[in-house]
Amino acid sequence: MYIVQIASECAPVSKVGGLADVVYGISRELEMRGNVLEIILPKYDCMRYDHIWGLHIEYQDLWVPWGNGAIHCSVWSGSVHGRKCFFIEPHSNDNFFNRDRYYGFPDDAMRFAFFSKAALEFLIKADKHPDIIHCHDWQTGLIPVLLYEMYKFQELSHPRVCYTIHNFRFQGITGTDILSATQLNKPEYYHHHERLKDNTHPTALNFMKGGIVYSNFVTTVSPKHAFEARHTDQGYGLGDTLHIHQDKFGGILNGIDYEQWNPEIDPLIPSHYTMATLDNKYGNKEALRDRLMIRKEFKPIIAYVGRLDSQKGVHLIRHALFYALDKGAQFVLLGSSPETSINNDFLQIKQELNENQDCHLEIGFNEELARLLYAGADMIVMPSMYEPCGLAQIIALRYGTVPIVRAVGGLADTIFDRDFSDKAITARNGYVFQEADYKGIESAMQRAIGLWYDYPEQFHKLVLQGMQYNYSWQHSGQHYLNVYEKIRKK
Ligand code: GLC
Repeated sequence: MYIVQIASECAPVSKVGGLADVVYGISRELEMRGNVLEIILPKYDCMRYDHIWGLHIEYQDLWVPWGNGAIHCSVWSGSVHGRKCFFIEPHSNDNFFNRDRYYGFPDDAMRFAFFSKAALEFLIKADKHPDIIHCHDWQTGLIPVLLYEMYKFQELSHPRVCYTIHNFRFQGITGTDILSATQLNKPEYYHHHERLKDNTHPTALNFMKGGIVYSNFVTTVSPKHAFEARHTDQGYGLGDTLHIHQDKFGGILNGIDYEQWNPEIDPLIPSHYTMATLDNKYGNKEALRDRLMIRKEFKPIIAYVGRLDSQKGVHLIRHALFYALDKGAQFVLLGSSPETSINNDFLQIKQELNENQDCHLEIGFNEELARLLYAGADMIVMPSMYEPCGLAQIIALRYGTVPIVRAVGGLADTIFDRDFSDKAITARNGYVFQEADYKGIESAMQRAIGLWYDYPEQFHKLVLQGMQYNYSWQHSGQHYLNVYEKIRKK
């Protein structure tokens, strides 16, 4: 099959969050299975150019019809760790992608509407005829709309679209001016409940809704989250739309790359280990303590790695830190927030705890330290408010670190409580709590810390049970192929 992924991020060249890892991971898996795969991305100024090999202009003069005229673009291509990527570079005074960061501008909706249209124009001009177009999140929600309303009358007569939603909170809600810019026009047609009209703001259009309505199949990144998006407020207003389109909606759990995340060979950790040599994991705990100047005492280390935003349950992360210290554990945190106020809160806690030798907060992101944390910690906490899939808990299992998670979305689909679960005792792999309150997280942490101190051999067993799990792309890759096959035949 010939598959084109269109997205706003791809790891490691343009990464803000898990979306980037997924776009790369799924592409690699599908290619290994013998499919032809290409990825179309914006050419951001702020990308990691050191991760692109052989970058060159592939297509010189792409004119993308826009508003009353057209915008001139160059399309570059290069290889990102083996994946063939195209990068669209518009030349206009809008400077859509020549900025110091990926998102967070008042014209974000325009920027990605333009990117979506340019990606389709490029496919036509370069005479590409993919069997499947797979697009992701609100940024590319207009792709199926443009395709079915505009481009199917041109050369792109029958590609099928799979649309994956990684985060329902950001939907691309915007004004109707986007219709004249993209030349879709006809506001009375598009600004209609059955098409792009936002379900909550009556004057607005919604890209993600368009993506749902017009795609051949819609997925989100775990089965549990597919349920939550339809039946709870986690659909952020799109529950009704999903309900109408339920026959083409489902959840497919993300994977991680089991070669890239492998404690046996990970070049960024000092002490390698497997299930058979688990004792060597301790070398990483010592290295982590040396690096972060945490004292060497007989105590478990609990970690948090990831973005610090309200989705992740910042108040519970903060509480976990103090609770851990109180219960005789050590705590390390690595993460940062797009919101300055949250960053400042954690910087203040860092200052308050400056003298405390049982904890360390690192506000920022550093891949090498992240890996040392996964390898060196005994447990990680993920008290998310909502979590479409979550990757950190899967990485933690792989590195023999016990996840303590809230039972939402992908966390509930991947982690099974040691004491209370429907799973067989030997298939349990962590600690799970239900309510997003202090009592909830305390109950889970208390049980985890207690097991570590009082029943070390049981804790060891729990670690091994987690390492036995295989949440690699192999499984998810097959699920996506099934979806592709299904919609291709229609
Ligand atoms: C988003 C979600 C996260 C998911 C990731 C990749 O970042 O918040 O839960 O793992 O996308 O799909």
